[in-house]
Amino acid sequence: MPQITLALSDIPEGVPHKPEDADVILIRAGDSVTALGHLCPHYGLPLAKGVIRDGALICPFHHACFDARTGRQAQPPGHGDLSRFAVTVADGRVTVELPADAVPHAPPAHGGQGLDTRRVVLAGAGAAAEECALRLRESGFEGVIEMIAPGTLPPYDRTMLSKAALAGKKGAADLVLTDAEGLAARDIARIDGRIAKVEPGRVTLADGGTHAFDRLLVAPGGEPIRPDLPGIDLAGIHTLRSVEEAEALSEAAGAAKRVALIGGGFIGMEGALTLAKRGCDVTVVMREDVPLERVLGTRVGRAIMAEHEDAGVRFVAGAEVEGFDGDGAVSAIRLKGGAPVEADLVVLAMGVKPATGAIEGLPLEKDGGVRVAEDLSVPGLDGVFVAGDCAHAPTPFGAARIEHWRVARQHGARVARGIAGGTAGLADIPFFWTALARQYRYLGHAEDWDEILFDGAPEDGPFLARYVKDGQVMAALTAGRDADLAALHLRMAAASGPVPA
Ligand SMILES: Cc1cc2nc3c(=O)[nH]c(=O)nc-3n(C[C@H](O)[C@H](O)[C@H](O)COP(=O)(O)OP(=O)(O)OC[C@H]3O[C@@H](n4cnc5c(N)ncnc54)[C@H](O)[C@@H]3O)c2cc1C
Ligand code: FES
Repeated sequence: MPQITLALSDIPEGVPHKPEDADVILIRAGDSVTALGHLCPHYGLPLAKGVIRDGALICPFHHACFDARTGRQAQPPGHGDLSRFAVTVADGRVTVELPADAVPHAPPAHGGQGLDTRRVVLAGAGAAAEECALRLRESGFEGVIEMIAPGTLPPYDRTMLSKAALAGKKGAADLVLTDAEGLAARDIARIDGRIAKVEPGRVTLADGGTHAFDRLLVAPGGEPIRPDLPGIDLAGIHTLRSVEEAEALSEAAGAAKRVALIGGGFIGMEGALTLAKRGCDVTVVMREDVPLERVLGTRVGRAIMAEHEDAGVRFVAGAEVEGFDGDGAVSAIRLKGGAPVEADLVVLAMGVKPATGAIEGLPLEKDGGVRVAEDLSVPGLDGVFVAGDCAHAPTPFGAARIEHWRVARQHGARVARGIAGGTAGLADIPFFWTALARQYRYLGHAEDWDEILFDGAPEDGPFLARYVKDGQVMAALTAGRDADLAALHLRMAAASGPVPA
């Protein structure tokens, strides 16, 4: 078996160390050394750039967390435990045994269906539902698992739709998370259907079929807002939520002369930049003066706007869309009191609403979300949980409905724990990323703040912004200071929430 040897003194403490000639990271605590796989199971990025604190290793890219002693994955995204390799330390020398067929990570062990007669129904095949299904099987749950969602596609990586998929670099098959074979190996039944009604112990599908459950997870995600405006049904007006929509949009972009995206949120900003990079003539039409202002603040929003303008994206700010012109196909967006914006391809990026509108029997909030308890159960509905984009759930930063991938996966894992048991591990600190001109990463949750403390300038190079309320850091944003944000994450996890500014 191949070995590597090196001096213990060459391994620094407190940071992952990757020897130049070996695909492994070494984590040293005094005289003890752990050797783990060097690539993150999420997108395969290098964990040598990770941060370690209190026995946890965090990937700085999208904040997957691992037990630094065992390699066990403790927090999403991605799904796999880091391989752990045998290490001996003697006379100040460290020897690591690396099998020839070593892999950096592997899916956690799982079982399948057994004699347990309990039935878990998952309404959805997205981020929250997939995480829940996998975790259930990994924690030994042997009951029935039915994953019901429209279509037959297995769960896929939706975050790629506005990035590699829209860029034409990845197709539907590249986005699949657990394929049909993987679902079958775990006895997870992928059923084509749409949940239309929830009653005690059973769901009814839109086609009238019923499925009994002992536990039900409702995770239907969001649906893009389509305003009821004149001309909305003209050809050439697209939304971007599913793989089918991304493929249609990507194809249309190839032939479009002028593209306009309506909305200055994350999907609008990512979509605009991806299409501009493809050579499209791109305009963003938005109600606000500065994109992402409400979530990230004016200064960061302005910096992002400038980066988009540098890439050739034009903005029509402070605009109210009145309707769409065109003869069969869209030719322009009509604005209240402003000149029309010519476009033969329009993307509605005006936000999403919870896809709960057509599901009877759920206690809906005004925005279509469902208020849930700490374990994501719905008060008053026995055995029913809501997770992901639809859940108005407690977080260490106050209750919130958060529409982001890692949070949905945390929810799925939490529901699985509630059903099948298992350890809670690190506190669920919300996190999201967005791929714009730079990779922006955001930690925590702040709906408002007293001040934003900047370390570095967002207009000019790497920076870390901290959103402070009542002297506490409620959230932080970075571009280019990933290790600092990851370290803050582990501080927040240790504090189970905000930390002093
Ligand atoms: C283009 C795009 C880019 C994104 N980029 C990022 C990013 O960079 N970073 C980030 O953090 N987040 C990103 N997100 C957000 C992230 O994808 C969502 O927050 C996450 O997918 C929510 O997970 P979910 O399980 O709630 O819903 P989803 O993943 O949307 O899954 C919902 C599932 O429910 C099914 N369904 C719908 N209605 C029903 C019904 N009635 N019955 C049964 N099934 C139903 C759907 O078909 C789907 O399978 C992006 C989203 C989009 C659309
Ligand atoms: S590559 Fe590690 S979390 Fe995404």
